[in-house]
Parts: sequence; C-alpha cells; structure tokens
Amino acid sequence: MFDLLIKNGKVVSPSATIECDVAVKNGKIAAMGQFDDSEAVKVIDADGKYVMPGAVEAHMHCMAPFQGCFGANDFYQQSVSAAFGGVTTFMDFANVFKGKSVFEAVKERRNEMEMSAIDFSVHGKFVESPPEIIAEIDKLVEYGCPTFKMFMTYKKEGVMSDDETLIKVFTKAKEVGGLPMLHCEDNAIAETNIDKCKENNNLSWVNFSKSKPAICETSAFAKACYLAEYVGSAILVVHTTNGDALDIARRAHAKRLPIYVESGPHYLTLFDDNYEKEDGYLYVCSPPLRTPEDAEEIWKGLVDGTIVLTGSDDCTYDVDEKSMFLEKDSEGKIIQDFTKVVNGMSGIEIRLPILLSEGVNKNRISINKVCALTSTNIAKVYGCYPQKGVVAPGSDADIVIVDMEKKVTLSKDVLHNNISYCLHEGMEVKGYPVMTISKGNIIIENGEFKGERGAGKFIPRKIDPAYLEKFDLN
Ligand code: URP
Ligand code: ZN
Ligand code: ZN
Repeated sequence: MFDLLIKNGKVVSPSATIECDVAVKNGKIAAMGQFDDSEAVKVIDADGKYVMPGAVEAHMHCMAPFQGCFGANDFYQQSVSAAFGGVTTFMDFANVFKGKSVFEAVKERRNEMEMSAIDFSVHGKFVESPPEIIAEIDKLVEYGCPTFKMFMTYKKEGVMSDDETLIKVFTKAKEVGGLPMLHCEDNAIAETNIDKCKENNNLSWVNFSKSKPAICETSAFAKACYLAEYVGSAILVVHTTNGDALDIARRAHAKRLPIYVESGPHYLTLFDDNYEKEDGYLYVCSPPLRTPEDAEEIWKGLVDGTIVLTGSDDCTYDVDEKSMFLEKDSEGKIIQDFTKVVNGMSGIEIRLPILLSEGVNKNRISINKVCALTSTNIAKVYGCYPQKGVVAPGSDADIVIVDMEKKVTLSKDVLHNNISYCLHEGMEVKGYPVMTISKGNIIIENGEFKGERGAGKFIPRKIDPAYLEKFDLN
C-alpha cells in the first residue's frame, strides 16, 4: 500500500514531460506508472497540472548579520514562505568573519536552521586564507558542505577575498571536491566610485547603480574565470546580470571549463529605473538592478544554456531595516545615502512563479528548462542529486504541483515573507505552484501551510566529480 498517489499529472524532468502517476511510500518516490486509487492511503488528482521536483533554493541570506541588519524572518518563517513558492530544500551561508573557523561557523548555521520545515544545507564562506583555514576545506567536504562563497568586493565590510585567497581556495577545492561560489564585483571599481560619490556628496539611489556598473561585475567575473582556468578548478558564479559576463562564460564553456552561472528573477523583472523612485533604497542589491536590455541578455543566457542555475538571493529585510541608518530632512523626507542601506531584496517565494509566468507562459523557455533551472541542475551542481532535484523512484518525495493556468497578482498580501511591501506589487503572474510536498507530506494545500516546524533535516552533500571536471550537466 502506498502512502500517497499523485494521479493523472504531467511529470516534468529537464528532458521530458510524461503523463503518469507518482506513488510515494515512506517519504520516497516508490514507483511511477499507472495505479489504482485503492493502492494508496491518499490520492491526489493532478489532472491538467504539472508535477515537478520541488524547487531547490541554494542562494539566500536569512538571519544573517550584514551591514548592521539581520533580516525579517527566522528559518522557520523562511521555510514557510519558501514552501509557498514550491521550494522543498534550501541552503544558506555560514556567518564567517576574519579569525573565525569556517567549519565551526557551518555547524552553528546548521543548528540555526534546524527549525526549518523543509530540508536544508549550509555553504561555507571564505574571507581569508591562512593555512589552518584552508585546511578546513577538507573537513567541510567530508561534513557534506562542499560549497563556499567568496566576495570579490565588500573590502570595507571585511568580507572580501583577495586574489591570493581566491587562488588558495580554488586550489584546495579542486583537490578535495569542493566548489567555490563567487560574488563577482570588482572592489577597486566599486569603492573608487563610492568614494567619488561621497566626495561629491551625491549618494542618491541612482548613483548606487552607477557606482557598480555592469563592467564592475564583468571585470571581476573575468578575473574569477581566468583564475579558475589557471588553477583548473570549477567555480559557480552567483547573481549574474549582464551579457558581457555571459560572453566570458560562453568562451569558457566552449572549452568545457566547469564555470556554472546563476542568475535571479529580480534581474529579469525589475530594472534600474527603480532607483529614480523615492523609495529606491528598497531596490538596493548587489549587483544592482540593470536595464531591460540586460534582462534580455539574461533570457538569452537561460535559453542557450550559459546560465544553468537560478537563485533568488533572498534577503528579506522590512522597511524598518532597509531604512534604519537613513536620516530624514526637516520635512521628514529620507535623505538619499546608499552607503547606509543594507544590500538585498526578498524573492524566495516568487522565483518559480516568475520563471513559469515570464518564461514558460511567455514562450521564452520550456517548463523542462524551468525544472532544470530551479531544481535538477541545482541539485546536481550543489551535490544532492538524485536525492533531490528529480521525480524518480528512490528520490525523496519532494514535489511541487503547478497549475500553468492559475493567475496570481503578486502583492505583500499574497506572499508569506513577513514584510510590509512587495517589489512586484500588482504584477500578475500566470503559472503558480498549488501544492508542495516535502518527503511525502503535503505542506502546502489550498493556500494553507500544513508543515511542521523542525521537520526539515540537514542534507549532507557530495558533488559528482564529473561536474567539477567539465561543464556538462547531462
Ligand atoms: O545585495 C545582495 N545580493 N545581498 C546579499 C549578499 C550577496 O551579495 O549575495
Ligand atoms: Zn553576492
Ligand atoms: Zn547572495
């Protein structure tokens, strides 16, 4: 007897869409084919709907002290919001600063994440490279956390990795099966421009985006790719926003170099004209929002396979945190100073809906591509495939059922992210997750959360060496 039977749905993988039933037992997918209702304790009719592997969110920042802020959600609330967006596994970053053991920070983060209702994992972070810290890469890989972020900017915040650190971390990662994740912004370009804005006393939101132009990102992107090519290591570049950077990746991919590129839904749907608004500080994120033409380049990168991953880069800060260091003039109007605004925006709940609506329903990409970009490729690159990222016998029964006809007007009132605004307020999306299943348990049904605090488990990961050797996710 199966615990659950999902009947009549269209089961999606990166390569095919197949009409069949999915049978679940003990939290795993037990069988796929045609079954009778009498064979299961509970039957769900998914007629006309798509049955996809639960989305994997490998890029978010929750309960993360950064630029004096902490975020609006704890990991439980974050997991609820994620689940409404079809996410069944998420990963966050260890809080690391100079002098701190990365391994200890990863274990602390794991403990903080135990309250999650969905499965989770942790990335390390490197901000320096003394021998004892580099030696921790071995331990991280063995512990099941083989991915770690490095920032190529934020020197003043004390989290930038210098070039020597990049080379040392890339070298050790290659040796032991780790994968460095890069935030590519050229610190010299960014900080020189920011200093100029300070001198000229013009720290407007518009100048924020001008201080970190596309070339600031591309310069660092090129450096990261060339250093990785030199060392012979794989890297993953997060939150990519422009076509010139993608051309560098294309050149690397022509040589099958394992450079994995991520972009996010905000770069497809929100543009730099938002910095002209009075509340433009709400849109401050790094890299900054770009132009609609840049967004078209990102769509091209998704279509041609240069971008293989999406991440929301979720940073859910409410207005009070985004504005907490800003001063007001005598009329109570905010005085624009982008150096006093925490970077980042909320997005974990809308990544899948935006890709379904703006991608599939607008005929830019197939639902199979969305499956790869939100789940399968992420599970593969981050090392939790096939436990996650696929609807197949033996895999965890982490499933999202999608209704491609369902229309939702995005708004603070329909999202579950615990903040008082929505940067996509009023945007109608068509295509939405209607049921989320985590390890065989229905956790979102009829717009209601039915999961449990603490039901999520830490998922130890190991990356298939083939993905670290050459660019090929098939
Ligand atoms: O603005 C952003 N992206 N904030 C979060 C930290 C990061 O760089 O990913
Ligand atoms: Zn970043
Ligand atoms: Zn980030």
